Amino acid sequence: MMTDQTADLILRRQKSVPSAIANMNPVFIESGSNANVRGLDGKTYIDFASGIGVNNLGNTHPEVVRAIRDQAGKFVHACFHVLMYEPYVALAEKLNALVPVTGTPKTMLANSGAEAVENAVKIARSYTRKRAVICFDNAFHGRTMLTMTMTSKIRPNKTDTGAWAPGIFRVHFPYCFRCPWNLTPDSCKMACGESYFEKYVFKFLVDPDDTAAIILEPVQGEGGFIPVPPGYLEQLRAVCDRHHIVLIFDEIQSGFGRTSKMFAADHFNVKPDIMTLAKSMGGGLPISAVTGNGKIMDSVAAGGLGGTYGGNPVACAAALAVLDVFDTEDILDRAVTLGEVIRERFRAFKKQFDCIGDVRGLGAMQAIEIVKGAGSMEPDGEKAGRFIRACRDRGLLILACGTFKNNIRMLMPLTIEPEMLEKGLDIMEQAFSDIS
Ligand SMILES: Cc1ncc(COP(=O)(O)O)c(C=O)c1O
Repeated sequence: MMTDQTADLILRRQKSVPSAIANMNPVFIESGSNANVRGLDGKTYIDFASGIGVNNLGNTHPEVVRAIRDQAGKFVHACFHVLMYEPYVALAEKLNALVPVTGTPKTMLANSGAEAVENAVKIARSYTRKRAVICFDNAFHGRTMLTMTMTSKIRPNKTDTGAWAPGIFRVHFPYCFRCPWNLTPDSCKMACGESYFEKYVFKFLVDPDDTAAIILEPVQGEGGFIPVPPGYLEQLRAVCDRHHIVLIFDEIQSGFGRTSKMFAADHFNVKPDIMTLAKSMGGGLPISAVTGNGKIMDSVAAGGLGGTYGGNPVACAAALAVLDVFDTEDILDRAVTLGEVIRERFRAFKKQFDCIGDVRGLGAMQAIEIVKGAGSMEPDGEKAGRFIRACRDRGLLILACGTFKNNIRMLMPLTIEPEMLEKGLDIMEQAFSDIS
């Protein structure tokens, strides 16, 4: 039952905030601590959503809160273009040491994921003096005009809001469960790889001599938690090297331990030229980064990058604290265990419930794909919606993803207590029973 206070707030929100700012839960948050959320309705929830993969260290991690307080007590804004400050440089140095990119890295800071992607494209265009950008089916890169164009899903992401940015070309992503060529991983000989680019994309879609960048999420997030198959990135790297194309990995959702390594790229023996980062980096504060090969990053004219708020000092302090906590609390080791526990339970769910078509992921970035029934390949977004509501009724916040909203994704804090995790997974099992 919704309380009067929540009902009143929902009414106020409806009158004051556009309906396009969608909302998944009729809950107003009162407080959050690690993987626990308390609503103004007095109910507590286990949080498997983390504000869409932002609270990888949980809500209000004490070290992050302390860093925010300390920095806010000194100065909250200066604008790096006007007055420089050490936390910006320290964060750039830390990221340069961590992020696996080609060459000697440099980092620029911005505010949101979309802004990082916009800048990555600008930099790639400036370096190559070429214009076209290749992106993928199921990609999500943001909601600004350029990143919306690069985002794959049409409804609601692009409904009535074109015209779209020019020079963007979309190709098939290696979504093995729904192979665009209808092949199986054992027999496909990587039909989506080098030969697809050389024999199809560069012949029928866009000339490689016009192509500045290929951008992809090594594990697609919003598109359905779809990891690239082993060997695929090597082929993309070869294509980019052959044609002087900048390879960009968008790790805004997959970065900072979500796949149980710092970055999804760390699972593969391939470095991009540029990586975009955001979400969990700031422990909840809005900050993003573009880390890339210094030669490429330095190709833009002075004053061509930046912005009033990019790399806000309080957000930098939070991000530095986040990176410290990764070391002091062995977050990546915990994320490995988390991924194993989730994976084992999901395999058991798949045997138990006919509506589970696929279980997949990398490390702790795991998902379940819901289909109409045993043996069916038809996505069932309606059933996924019922599942999510059943979870919420039982006290678990959880998110769907994918073009048909039929994938259930795991974005709990990597710091979740083992008993909370078990409780949340038990609720998932009960919710699958509810909807079956
Ligand atoms: C892979 C990826 N890129 C870019 C974005 C856009 O980030 P933001 O919402 O901070 O603009 C997202 C957001 O979900 C994302 O998952």
